[in-house]
Amino acid sequence: MIIGLTNQKGGAGKTTLSGHLAYWLSQRGTVIVVDADAQASSTNWMKDLELPCKTMIDPDDLFDELPALAEQYDAVVVDGPGSLSATTKAILSRCDLALVPCKPALTDLEEADGVLRLLSGKLQIPTS
Ligand SMILES: Nc1ncnc2c1ncn2[C@@H]1O[C@H](COP(=O)(O)OP(=O)(O)OP(=O)(O)O)[C@@H](O)[C@H]1O
Ligand SMILES: [Mg+2]
Repeated sequence: MIIGLTNQKGGAGKTTLSGHLAYWLSQRGTVIVVDADAQASSTNWMKDLELPCKTMIDPDDLFDELPALAEQYDAVVVDGPGSLSATTKAILSRCDLALVPCKPALTDLEEADGVLRLLSGKLQIPTS
């Protein structure tokens, strides 16, 4: 199963939730974290937790490689960047479950709308 954590809003909790979720899943099966954020916070955190992690920013790589990782691991947790980019679109295209962390503030809720519109097909993002 591929679980994508996306939201264009920075500081919404994508990395925090993906790390905790990955650790929880690792107690129940095999899991890999895919760090799709150039900040590489998850990559560094997963080293400390000694959990498998792959840094993958390129949208084409994500689109091509996520399904293969889902064959190898029970769960693939993808920590997305804080943007509505082609990278985010690739994650949303491939994930089985999209989680959109959002803090309870008006601006956060408004920014989460971008991901929801992308998911509903109402918003298109160029792939190049
Ligand atoms: N559920 C939560 N409750 C309270 N604070 C939280 C929660 N989740 C994350 N935080 C705090 O919010 C801050 C930002 O979280 P985090 O780095 O996970 O966000 P992010 O969405 O990955 O941001 P970015 O887009 O910059 O990568 C951190 O200080 C973190 O400790
Ligand atoms: Mg993050």
